[in-house]
Amino acid sequence: MRGYLVAIFLSSVFLYYVLHCILWGTNGYWVPLVDMKSKTIKPCSKAPAFASLLRFPQFYPFLCASDFAKIASAYGTNNFALPYGIKASGEYFRVVLSKLKSCDVFDEPDNVPCKRCVVVGNGGVLKNKTLGEKIDSYDVIIRMNNGPVLGHEEDVGRRTTFRLFYPESVFSDPTHNDPNTTAVLIVFKPHDLRWLLEVMIGRNVNTNGFWKKPALNLIYKSHQIRILDPYIIREAAYQLLHFPTVFPKGQKPKHPTTGIIAITLAFHICSEIHLAGFKYSFYNPNGPLHYYGNATMSLMSKNAYHNVTAEQLFLKAIIEKNMVINLTQ
Ligand SMILES: *[C@@H]1O[C@H](CO)[C@@H](O)[C@H](O)[C@H]1NC(C)=O
Ligand SMILES: *[C@@H]1O[C@H](CO)[C@@H](O)[C@H](O)[C@H]1NC(C)=O
Ligand SMILES: *[C@@H]1O[C@H](CO)[C@@H](O)[C@H](O)[C@H]1NC(C)=O
Ligand SMILES: *[C@@H]1O[C@H](CO)[C@@H](O)[C@H](O)[C@H]1NC(C)=O
Repeated sequence: MRGYLVAIFLSSVFLYYVLHCILWGTNGYWVPLVDMKSKTIKPCSKAPAFASLLRFPQFYPFLCASDFAKIASAYGTNNFALPYGIKASGEYFRVVLSKLKSCDVFDEPDNVPCKRCVVVGNGGVLKNKTLGEKIDSYDVIIRMNNGPVLGHEEDVGRRTTFRLFYPESVFSDPTHNDPNTTAVLIVFKPHDLRWLLEVMIGRNVNTNGFWKKPALNLIYKSHQIRILDPYIIREAAYQLLHFPTVFPKGQKPKHPTTGIIAITLAFHICSEIHLAGFKYSFYNPNGPLHYYGNATMSLMSKNAYHNVTAEQLFLKAIIEKNMVINLTQ
């Protein structure tokens, strides 16, 4: 009996190893010699209005192949499993990062030390406000998920500096690729890293383990891709939204929405932040959820993965304290 169990155990270990090698490629242990180290972001001489919210304002927001593990142990990100850390997924991170071409935040030479940024949420409030030209006038424009620019230029502008995404929310139609955009992956689960590897090397995508069918192809070139440091999401959850670290049994843990994660990223790379498209009108459940498509507000109110109340309170607080300026009241 015991012999059987040992045999089953050993064969499952072997199978796991074989699957691991197939999924991650046999060259997983080789890291090319590109200079993928985090740099420093040119500091602005004037402290931004939101500086008091940050414990580490100089934190470099993207992971780099050659020093992500060192940074993870310096900031404790190696003590958290995904989505807020690299614990138990370090090897997956290493393999995927070794396939990226850069981890730079801004192109060199970057001569603007104090950046004016706008974070554009996907809210229906942007409809018919003709804010496009205004949005395009910022140094940095941060957008999220599949909020399109095409066909909505008058309301949301044309330029995109950063677009935050995850496999279930990224465009698959190449007409949406703007070559000037840096696409930033938010990693929620190990599957997301496997997915990025598969779409980057053009392998068939294994669609198991996603809450919605992920994109089967990547419209961005690998030099456009970055991976957000999970520390940024941890900061959004615990420091900014004050989520509990443990949720009661039977309750799904709540995670920050892409919008709040985008604002947290902006806190680290901008000196002045304006927001657009962050207002939800809950009193009108049939009102448009996004400035595109047909989804209605009722979809958001039912969301079990986010705490919309906590996010609304946070947004209200940073707007009232003039830490950010809201373009869509
Ligand atoms: C926006 O304008 C269009 C055309 O004028 C109109 O059909 C639509 O109802 C408006 N949408 C909102 C949310 O005001
Ligand atoms: C991308 O950048 C180039 C060079 O700065 C510019 O000419 C072009 O209009 C930009 N495209 C978009 C969609 O912003
Ligand atoms: C939204 O609804 C209209 C009318 O019902 C439909 O023609 C259109 O295809 C829908 N758009 C999307 C993105 O689902
Ligand atoms: C959501 O956040 C609010 C404000 O922090 C809190 O009072 C509430 O208990 C949270 N709800 C859930 C379901 O976590």
